[in-house]
Amino acid sequence: MKTVLAQYNKQAVYDAAEYIRQGEVVAFPTETVYGLGADAYNQAAVAKIFSAKGRPSDNPLIVHFADKSEIGAAVTEIPGDALKLMDAFMPGALTLVLKKNKRVPDNVTCGLDTVAVRVPDSEIAREFIRACGCPVAAPSANLSGRPSPTKASHVFEDMDGRIPYIIDGGETKIGLESTVLDCSGDKVRLLRPGGVAKREIEKVLGYKLIEGHSDEKPLSPGMKYKHYSPKSEVLLFAGEGASGRICAKYDEVEAKGMSAVILCLEGNTGQYAPRRTISMGKDLIDAQHNIFALFRENEYNDIIIVEGIEHEDGDALFNRLVKAGGGRVL
Ligand code: TXA
Ligand code: MG
Repeated sequence: MKTVLAQYNKQAVYDAAEYIRQGEVVAFPTETVYGLGADAYNQAAVAKIFSAKGRPSDNPLIVHFADKSEIGAAVTEIPGDALKLMDAFMPGALTLVLKKNKRVPDNVTCGLDTVAVRVPDSEIAREFIRACGCPVAAPSANLSGRPSPTKASHVFEDMDGRIPYIIDGGETKIGLESTVLDCSGDKVRLLRPGGVAKREIEKVLGYKLIEGHSDEKPLSPGMKYKHYSPKSEVLLFAGEGASGRICAKYDEVEAKGMSAVILCLEGNTGQYAPRRTISMGKDLIDAQHNIFALFRENEYNDIIIVEGIEHEDGDALFNRLVKAGGGRVL
C-alpha cells in the first residue's frame, strides 16, 4: 500500500476523512501525539488499526470526539465527577473511561464494558474528526512498543506501507499522551499519568486520586506492555547521586566499545563533560515535548542514558521513562 504524507490543509483533511468513511485507517496530529484513526463505530475498520500497529488484541482504544457534547452518544451515563472534569479539561489532554453503550463495537474496548473518550485540543484533530462525521478510535500512531510519534515523519517511519494517509500537522504541542482517568466507579482512578497534571485534576475533584487499577481487574490493559522503547537500551537514573552514577555507567559502556549518549536538562550538560550529552530542553515542559523524538533520533547508540527529572508534575514523563527503561530505575 502506498502511504501519502500530506501537509495539513483543507484538502488533506477532506481526503483523510474520505478514507475514514471508506473504512480505512489514517494518521492525524493531536496536541499530545499523532493518532492512528478509524471510524469508531466500524468494527472492520477498527480491526485494521490493530493490524497496522501490531497491537495486542486486549489493549483497548481511545475514542476521539470533535466536541464533548457528542460523548453521550457512546456511553450509558456521565457521572458527576466526570462532568466536572469535562468542564475543566475538555478539549484537552485528558481521557475519561466511562460505561459504554451498545453502539461501541467490542474490538474498540477489547470486550470491556467501558470506553475511553477524549476531545483533543488540537484544532486540526477536531477539524478532521468533524469531517469524518463519526467518532474516531485511535491509539498513538507508532508501531506497538515504539516511542509515540510527535512528528509526521515518525509516523511515516513506522507506518509506511501500512496505512494510506498521514496528515502532517507539524510537531505535536505536548509530546506525551493524555492522562487516562477511570470514571466508571465510585471514585476516580488514575490509570495513566499524562498531559494534564494530577495536581490540576485533584484541585477540580477536591480529593486525592486513587492510583492504578484495582488488583482484581486490569483496568488499563495497555499499561502492562513494553512501551515507548527505541532500539537502544534505555537506562534511567534518578535520585541521590544520580549524576555520578550516570558518569560511571557512561564510562563503563564506552570502555566496552559500545556507544552511549546522555539525555539531560540543558543546565546539567556541564556536569557530564566531556561525555556526549544531548539536551532535553530547559525544563520539564521541554523534556516532555522532546523525549520521544530524542529517543528516535538517538537510537543508533547502543545505550541511551537518561537523567530523571525531579518535579512535582513530573510523573507522566517519569512513567514513560521507567517504561522505556524496562521498569528499572538505576
Ligand atoms: O494522547 C493520547 O491519549 C493519544 C492520542 C492519539 O489521543 N492516544 C493514546 O492511545 O495514547 P494509546 O492507545 O496509545 O493509549 C490508550 C491507553 C492505553 O493504556 C489503554 O489501555 C487505555 O488507554 N484504555 C483505553 N480504553 C480503556 C478502557 N476502556 N479502560 C481502561 N483503559 C483503557
Ligand atoms: Mg500508545
